[in-house]
This record gives sequence, C-alpha cells and structure tokens, in this order.
Amino acid sequence: MKVLFRADEIAERVKTLGSEISSYYRGRDLTVVGILKGSFMFLSDLVRRIDVPVQLEFVRLSSYRNASEPQGTVKISMDIEGDIRGRNVLIVDDILDTGQSMLAFKRHLEEMGVHSVRVCTLLDKTYRRAAPIQPDFYGFRIEDGFVVGYGLDYAEQYRTLPDIYVIDT
Ligand code: IMP
Ligand code: MG
Repeated sequence: MKVLFRADEIAERVKTLGSEISSYYRGRDLTVVGILKGSFMFLSDLVRRIDVPVQLEFVRLSSYRNASEPQGTVKISMDIEGDIRGRNVLIVDDILDTGQSMLAFKRHLEEMGVHSVRVCTLLDKTYRRAAPIQPDFYGFRIEDGFVVGYGLDYAEQYRTLPDIYVIDT
C-alpha cells in the first residue's frame, strides 16, 4: 500500500471545501445526506468546517452489480427519516466512481420534492465514469486505482486508517 493523501493534506483540503460549501449555502437551509458507510469520516470532518446551520441525514445504498438488474437503479437499504421536501440537499460520499448509484440516488431525492440537490465527494475518480454526473464539490481528483483509508474500504478493511492509500487488488 502506498500513501496517496496524508491526513494533514486531507484536513487542509476539507477545511477549504467547508468554506466553499458554507459560502454556497449562506442564507439558505442545508441538509447534508451522508452515504454510509464510506462517507462517515469525511462527513464528520467536513460538517465541522461548515459554518452555516446543517441538518444531518444518513442513507445506506447497495448498488446492483450484476448485469441482470436494470441500470440506473439503486437499492436503498436505509432511507432518510426526516422530511426533506423543499430543502437544499448536499449528498456527501467518499468517492464518485462510475457514478451510477449516485445518479440514481440523486434522482430519488429529486422525486422526493427537494428544492435542490448537490453532490460532494472527497474523491472524484474520473476514469471509470459511466453515468452523466459530476461532483459539484470534491476534494481530490484521481484518475484510476483502488484507494482505501479515511472511510474507504476494501472488503470492509482499512476504513479506519487516517491516511488514504492506493492498493494493488
Ligand atoms: P459508483 O456507483 O461506481 O460510483 O460507486 C461508488 C462507490 O463504490 C463508492 O461509494 C465506494 O463505496 C465504492 N468505490 C469505488 N471506487 C472505490 C475505491 O477506489 N476504493 C474504495 N471504494 C470504492
Ligand atoms: Mg460507498
């Protein structure tokens, strides 16, 4: 495993992201929806750097990975509990890869009648993007490679590491 982003670099970038997001939402309501489990560490650092009032929700998504399932659908195994109709929603996830589950989830929120939906991911992995979606806010862009740490896992390992590593799978 090779270190890709050190904890201190991540902290610096998250601080900047927090101010960008704060400026964007200043004077408006904001509900942050964290996608479990991968976003937990990024989200907890990020929301402490946002200085406008934030309501928090969490969801758990499982994407269909087998070809027999329709594309563009996402299984929500734990959904939002609060009422988010009419609110400005910022979805926070660890990484945007193919973008398929994020696009489906974004559409799901739009159907719930939110006022706006934006996407923030710590990492924007552009190489395998298949769905027409980009993060509105992101921490770092990477081309390819499998990364772990700071919430990101490989078969449920390495989530709790403070730095981000690239691994050979
Ligand atoms: P997508 O629908 O392909 O964009 O799936 C994104 C999800 O796949 C992320 O939320 C991660 O859970 C997982 N994922 C994609 N790339 C990586 C990686 O490099 N490391 C760890 N998880 C990843
Ligand atoms: Mg994930």
